[in-house]
Amino acid sequence: MDLKSLIAEMTLDEKLQLLTGKNNWETVGIERLGVPSIVVSDGPHGLRKMVREEDGSYKTLKSTCFPTASAMSATWNPELAYQVGECIAEECQAENVDIILGPGVNIKRTPLCGRNFEYFSEDPYLAGEMAAAYINGVQSKDVGTSLKHYAANNQEYDRHHISSEVDTRALREIYLKPFEIAVKKSKPWTVMCSYNRINGVYGSEHKVLLDDILRKEWGFDGFVVSDWGAVWDRAKSLKATLELAMPYDEKHFGALKKAYEEGKITDEEIDSALERFLTIVFRAYNARSKRVKEYDADKHHEVAKKVALESITLLKNEDNILPVNKSKVKKLAIIGEFAAMPIIQGGGSAHVQSTKVDTPLEKIKHLAQKEGIEVEYAISMSVPSHSQYNQNTALTVAENADQVIMFVGNRNHVEGESHDRTSIRLAPDIENAILQVSRRNPNTVVVIQAGSAIDMSCWIGKVKGVVFDWYSGQAGGSAIAEILFGVHSPSGKIAETFPLCLEDTPSYDTYPGDGIVSWYKEGIMVGYRYYDTFEKPVLFPFGHGLSYTQFEYSDLKITPDVANENDEITVSLSIKNIGHVQGKETVQLYVRDMCSHVLRPYKELKGFVKVDLEPGEKKEISFKLNRDAFAYYSTAVDDWHIEGGLYKILIGASSQDIRLTGTIKISAE
Ligand code: GLC
Repeated sequence: MDLKSLIAEMTLDEKLQLLTGKNNWETVGIERLGVPSIVVSDGPHGLRKMVREEDGSYKTLKSTCFPTASAMSATWNPELAYQVGECIAEECQAENVDIILGPGVNIKRTPLCGRNFEYFSEDPYLAGEMAAAYINGVQSKDVGTSLKHYAANNQEYDRHHISSEVDTRALREIYLKPFEIAVKKSKPWTVMCSYNRINGVYGSEHKVLLDDILRKEWGFDGFVVSDWGAVWDRAKSLKATLELAMPYDEKHFGALKKAYEEGKITDEEIDSALERFLTIVFRAYNARSKRVKEYDADKHHEVAKKVALESITLLKNEDNILPVNKSKVKKLAIIGEFAAMPIIQGGGSAHVQSTKVDTPLEKIKHLAQKEGIEVEYAISMSVPSHSQYNQNTALTVAENADQVIMFVGNRNHVEGESHDRTSIRLAPDIENAILQVSRRNPNTVVVIQAGSAIDMSCWIGKVKGVVFDWYSGQAGGSAIAEILFGVHSPSGKIAETFPLCLEDTPSYDTYPGDGIVSWYKEGIMVGYRYYDTFEKPVLFPFGHGLSYTQFEYSDLKITPDVANENDEITVSLSIKNIGHVQGKETVQLYVRDMCSHVLRPYKELKGFVKVDLEPGEKKEISFKLNRDAFAYYSTAVDDWHIEGGLYKILIGASSQDIRLTGTIKISAE
C-alpha cells in the first residue's frame, strides 16, 4: 500500500497521534494499519539507550563511549568519524534502536558553551564535513541519525527561550553552513530543531528555516523532530513543517485537534507531514531485518582508541620533553586523580555508560615497565579533600622524579548540557597544583582532559609540555599512554581557537544576552575569522597541533591560474616528513578574497587533507575547489555570490602557520 492510501485509511485522531510521540523514546504505532512504532536514542558519541525498570525508573544500557565530537574533529579525519558512525549503528541495531540522536553541529561561538564537547568546531566547513562523515557511517548500516540542534543553539544559558539575533550573512555563512553541508553530503534521516529562538522565532516554528531553506533549498527529505520539549505551539510548529513533537505530551495532541477544528491547520498540512514522517518510519522498520543481534565490543573499543590516538593534540613540547625519553627518565611521577579516574566525556543527554575504561595510569605503568622506568603515582592536591597529606605526597613525588606528568581537566559538572562554564580556566585548586608541582620539578608535562578551549595563561609558562587529551572516550587511557611514550606521534589539531583569555573572545561582550536576546554582534567574525582578521593574539590558533616529527611543504601549484566562477580548481603541493619518526600531518587550505567590496574574513578554511608519512617520505596531495570556496552570502541578491577578482590560497599547518601561498584570478559577472 502506498503512503497516501495508508494515510487515507486513518482517522483524524490516529493521524494526530502519529505526529505526537508515544513516550520519551518511541513514536506511536497503529497496529490495525500496520504502522510500526520506531525507537530513537541519544548519542552522539555512543548509544545511550534508556530502559524502563520495574519500578518505573530508567537505567542506561552499556555501550562504547567514543571520543566526543570535539575530540573527533581534532583528528581532522572524516574516515574515523565514518567508522565511529558504523560502530554506533551496529550497537543501535543490537539494542533495537532505529535512529541515533546525533551528531551535534552547533558552532562554537563562545568557549563557555557547556555542550562544546558535543560539537565539532568554530569553523562551519570542518564541522559540516565531520558531521557528514559520521552520518554516512551510521546510515550505511540503515540506522538513522538526527542532525542537531537546528539552529544557532550556541549556548546552554537560557536555551529554551533566548533569541539568537543573527544577521543574514552570519546565519548563512557560519551557523547554517554545517547543516547545509551535512544535509547535502549525507541526507540525514531526521533533523532536530533547537529550543531557542532565531531572530525572535522558535526553532520549532521557524518555517523559513525548516521549510524554505532546509527542505526547498537544500533538498532535505527526512522529517524534523523537536528537541525534547522544544514545541511551544504545536499548530504553529506543524505549519512550519515540524513533523514530530517529542517527547509525548498530551497537550500537543489536544492543540492539534483544536487547531484542526478551528481550521487553523489543514488536511493537506497534516497529510503531507505524515507522508514525510512515515517515509522514514517504514525505512527504519524495513531495515530491521538486516540488524545484527550483537556487536563486537572489543572491536569497537579499538576503533575508539584509534580515534583517541588521532585526536590527542600536542600543544607545547619545550626541550622535546615528549615523548618520555628513557635515557633521561628513570623515575616518572604521575600526579592527579584524572590519571586513575579519567574524565572521558561531558555531562547531560550524551552521557554514555561505557563497556569499560582504560585508565592512563594503568597503561602508563605497563609501557614504563617495558622501558625500565619506575612510575610513582600521587593523587594531586586538587582533590576535594585538600588534605595536607595529599599535598606533601604529591610534591615529594614530584621533587624526587626525573619528569612529572600531571593529569588535570574539567570534571563532569563543569562541561555538560543545560549549563555553560563560567570560566575557561581550570579550577583554581588545579591551577594551584600545577604551579606548585612545576615549582618543584621544571620537567613537568600537563595532560588536560576537557571538551573545549582552556585559558592556560597563568601556568603554561611554568611547564614544558602540554597535551590536550579532550574527552577521549573509554579507550583514551591507552591512547594517551602510547602518545606519551612515543609509540605513536601525536597528530591532533585543535578545531577551535584557544584564546589567551575569555575577554579576548569575539562574543565576550554579548554572551549570554539579556535574558531575551543574545545578540551575535560579531557577525561572521567567529573564532579564527575574528582573531586573524583583526590580528588578535591567541594562546593557540585554530588548526594548531605539534608532532614528534617535522614536515616540509613545497611545490604549490594552482590550476588554472585564471578561472570562471563555475570552474573546478585544483591546488596541489608536496609534503615531506623531514624528521626521524613516522607522523601524520593535516594540511589546511584557506582562501582570502583579496579585493572584496564587502567585509570578509582574512581567511576561511576551504579544504584539509591528513597524510601519513614515514621518515623521509614525500607525497603529493591535492584539493579540488568549487564555487563554495570563493562565494559569500550576498544580502543584495539574497543568494551566494562570487566576486570577480584575485583570491589568495593559503596552505597551512594551522591557521597562523602558513607554509605556502599562491593566487588565482576568478572572473565572474
Ligand atoms: C536534550 C538535548 C538533545 C537530546 C534530547 C533527547 O534536551 O538537547 O540533544 O537529543 O534532549 O535527550
